[in-house]
Amino acid sequence: MSCQKKLQYLIHDNFIAYHHAHIDHFNVTGPHFNDYHSLLQEVYESLYSWFDKLSEQLRTMGEFVDGTIDLDKQCLIEPHDNGRTTSIILNRSSYNLEVLIKCGNALYKEAGKEGHGALETIVGDYLVDLNKLKWKVDSCLTNP
Ligand SMILES: [Fe+2]
Repeated sequence: MSCQKKLQYLIHDNFIAYHHAHIDHFNVTGPHFNDYHSLLQEVYESLYSWFDKLSEQLRTMGEFVDGTIDLDKQCLIEPHDNGRTTSIILNRSSYNLEVLIKCGNALYKEAGKEGHGALETIVGDYLVDLNKLKWKVDSCLTNP
């Protein structure tokens, strides 16, 4: 699969993970509501900003962003299951970030091998953000 195709799939998985974090930001409850509400806002704002940056990178590589992908069937991130306990929400966030990190690492390596320097750089920056977010989310889990 080409780097462009992998980037296309990463853009869609990133968007699904963004959507989950934004939904969970609204729905989280409990005595630590403000902490988790803010943390999930940080996650969704970061993923949303990467939707734009990754998509513009794809355009600079000569490809259009595909709006026809079936998000349920062609994304690695699982559909949202409406689970709303704090534990489910934080574990979902951690898992989604893990999936994005795995896909981002694969794309980073391939971009380096194929000499796509700009893509390698932007995905490297993306991975820095993802790893920091995952560290923050995992630090809130009792059993990460
Ligand atoms: Fe909000």
